[in-house]
Amino acid sequence: MFQKGLKGIVAAETSVGHVDGEKGQLIYRGYDIREIMENSTFEQIAYLLWHGDFPNEQQLNDLTTALKENRNLPAYMIDLIKSLPKDMDIMNVLRTVISAEGRATYQWKPTIEQAIRLTAIAPTIIAYRKRFIEDKPLVDPDASLSHVENYLYMLNGTVPSRAHVNALEAYMILTMEHGMNASTFAARVTASTESDLVSAVTSAIGTMKGPLHGGAPAGVITLLNEVHDSGDIEGTLRKKVLAREKLMGFGHRVYKVHDPRSIALKAKLKQFAGDDEWLDLSMQVEDIGVKVLQELKPGRALYTNVEFYAAGIMKALNMSEELFTPTFSASRFVGWTAHAIEQSEDNVIFRPESRFVGTVRVGS
Ligand code: ACO
Repeated sequence: MFQKGLKGIVAAETSVGHVDGEKGQLIYRGYDIREIMENSTFEQIAYLLWHGDFPNEQQLNDLTTALKENRNLPAYMIDLIKSLPKDMDIMNVLRTVISAEGRATYQWKPTIEQAIRLTAIAPTIIAYRKRFIEDKPLVDPDASLSHVENYLYMLNGTVPSRAHVNALEAYMILTMEHGMNASTFAARVTASTESDLVSAVTSAIGTMKGPLHGGAPAGVITLLNEVHDSGDIEGTLRKKVLAREKLMGFGHRVYKVHDPRSIALKAKLKQFAGDDEWLDLSMQVEDIGVKVLQELKPGRALYTNVEFYAAGIMKALNMSEELFTPTFSASRFVGWTAHAIEQSEDNVIFRPESRFVGTVRVGS
C-alpha cells in the first residue's frame, strides 16, 4: 500500500494525544483541551503529557522547581549562541544549540528528567539569541517566575503583565501536542533507532521549521500585510488561490472542520486585544478566505488552522516574526519528548519501504 505523504496511514499507537479531525477535537491524555486549558498552567499540562495525568500539589511543585533549576545554560552553550553567524535564523540556532546539549548523559532510553531539561533550556536559548542579535544585554532566567513568565521576561527584560502571560500561556498549551504531526513523527523515527532524546528533538526542530508546518505564522503576517496594502481582501485572496498559492494559516491535513486551537486562540485574542485593527482584519480575512476557498476548492474543507490566530497573539505580544516558529517549538518540546519516551517503551524501528519507479537497467 502506498500513500503519498502517508496521508491517512496510522504510523503509531499513542495515548499522549489525539486529533479528531471530524469533530474538531484535540485530546491530551484523554482530556479535551478546550475543557482544561482555561484553568491550567504550562507546568500542569506538561506534567499531564509526560506522566499521563494531572499532578497533585507536591508533584506540581517538584516539576515547577525542576524546570526552574534547569533553565540555565553552561558557558560553552552561551558562547555558541554568540558565535553563530548573525544571519542564522533562530530556528537554526535552536537546532544547533540543542544539539550541543547532547552529551554522554543522554543515552537510550529517554527519560522525563531529560525532557524537563530540554524543555527548560529552549526559551533560554531563544531569548538569549534574540537579545544577542539585537545587541541588547542578555537577561538571565529568574527563578521566581513561571515557565511562560520567565520566557517573556528574558525576551523583554521586564516582568510581563498577567494579560500577556495568559495569552502566551494559552498559545503554548494549545500547541504542546498534536498527534502524529510531521515534527513529532520525525522525533519518533529518530527515537525508534534507539538514538538519544537530544537527537530526536533536533530532528523535530529541523522538521518544524518548514513553512508547511511550524513556519506558517510568519507567512500569515505576510498574507495579512499584503491584503492590508492591497485594500481588496477578496481580490487578493482569489488571485492567490487561482495562482495555486497556498493561503498561509488555512487548511489542515487532519481537521475537516475548524481547528479547535484556532477557535480558542481567536477567543483569547478578542479578550486580550479587544478593538484592534489587526484583529478585525484577521477576522475578515478568515471569513472571506473560507468563502473563497469553498468556491475555488470545493469539497476540500479548508478553514483556519492554529497558525492563523497564533500570528495575531504574537503580534499583540509585540513578538517579532522570527520568534513565531521558535516559540511554537518551545511548547512542542513537551509533545516531542512525551512521544519519544512513549516510543521507547515499546519500540520497533520505523523502516517503511519505497516503490521503485526509476528505470531498471539491470543486465542492460
Ligand atoms: N490555500 C489554498 N489551497 C489550499 C490550502 C491553502 N492553505 N491548503 C490546501 N489547499 C488545497 C490544495 O491546493 C489542494 O488543492 P487541489 O486538490 O486542487 O490540488 C487541496 O486543497 C488539498 O491540499 P493538500 O496540500 O494536498 O493538503 P495537505 O493535507 O497535504 O496539506 C497543509 C495540509 C500542508 C496544512 C496545507 O493545507 C497547507 O499548505 N496550508 C498552508 C500552510 C499552513 O497554514 N500550514 C500550517 C499547518 S498547521 C501546523 O502545521 C501547525
